[in-house]
Amino acid sequence: MAWKTLDDMELAGKRVLTRVDINVPVDGGVVTDATRIERVAPTVQDILSRGGTPVLLAHFGRPKGSVVPEMSLKMLVPALEAAFGTTVNFATLDEAAAVIGACAEGQVVLLENTRFEPGEEKNDAELAKRYAALGDIYCNDAFSAAHRAHASTAALAHLLPSCAGRLMQAELEALEAALGAPKRPVLAVVGGAKVSTKLDLLGNLVEKVDMLVIGGGMANTFLAAQGVDVGKSLCEHEMTGTAKQIAEKAAAAGCEIILPRDVVVAREFRENAPSEVVPAESCPADAMILDAGPESVAHVEQAIARAETLIWNGPLGAFEIAPFDAATNAAAKFAAKRTARGELVSVAGGGDTVAALNKAGAADDFTYISTAGGAFLEWMEGKTLPGVAALG
Ligand code: 3PG
Ligand code: MG
Repeated sequence: MAWKTLDDMELAGKRVLTRVDINVPVDGGVVTDATRIERVAPTVQDILSRGGTPVLLAHFGRPKGSVVPEMSLKMLVPALEAAFGTTVNFATLDEAAAVIGACAEGQVVLLENTRFEPGEEKNDAELAKRYAALGDIYCNDAFSAAHRAHASTAALAHLLPSCAGRLMQAELEALEAALGAPKRPVLAVVGGAKVSTKLDLLGNLVEKVDMLVIGGGMANTFLAAQGVDVGKSLCEHEMTGTAKQIAEKAAAAGCEIILPRDVVVAREFRENAPSEVVPAESCPADAMILDAGPESVAHVEQAIARAETLIWNGPLGAFEIAPFDAATNAAAKFAAKRTARGELVSVAGGGDTVAALNKAGAADDFTYISTAGGAFLEWMEGKTLPGVAALG
């Protein structure tokens, strides 16, 4: 790897400025999904066990450079203490030096929301210097915020001896295994509503993977590009030319594109709306495609069965409402089963995707589930992540 890890650092007696992503869902001040907090615990515990003091830097929400009391990180202290098993001392940036100085061994310091500072999102050098003065070492464990070039993710890395935390390391290793030097054949599953939001992704993937399953609303745009009438389905008709170009690029690169063969259609977008299965080219004019059909699922499963590596972003249908989660659930369970048998390396990321895999009960058996949404996508698009680059 091009960057250092905690293994390369001497931590005893050191203040370790640790950038974490604890931008977690909160309802009425209570954390509803602590996954991101739990996933940084190994880094915090590693620093503590080696005699260092973790000083956590993190953002919450998008306060855009001003103090928004509802976005104070103070509300996360109980959840952090539960996950880390030690006292977490909270401090605003002005209080930081004093609180860090008084922090007992074995305890953690949490600094206030970095995005309360106007310089944070500007990657401001002066703000980075203020942070740097508070620590001896910089550790970035926030892969899911690494697509942002902010003072606490980028500028700061150049001012102190820097390394990747355990979660950052795990994320990068998993993604490298999936797209860097993967076992072939590689299958990508890309779903979601719109082609327009995943253009760069599709363009990069067709040159890197052997098979590409396209699902969700964006599959309708690819069907429309083949002259199929998709009725009232979600479809970006202005993107059909682009879809054709992606299909041509895939053919030239030897990447097989897998589109739905049969589809589940309904007249209404609601839970348990009456539905029927029709061939993909026979969507009635007054109906919309809400999921892939059983024949399509069998085809996707055949692709998963041939693959050695799977990278998944985006559901295959309207997975939030039954029964239109059927294709996503079936394909996810099949991939989980092959992974559990040691036949497949499977990596998934993106908020919707992880929710869909959890709903299918498949997430636990996947090789790796990323905590990242936007950063996972940008990595799959082949883009350089500023937070990772700054560590190199
Ligand atoms: C996220 O949840 O996507 C990360 O924490 C980054 O947040 P952002 O999208 O507001 O930059
Ligand atoms: Mg985001």
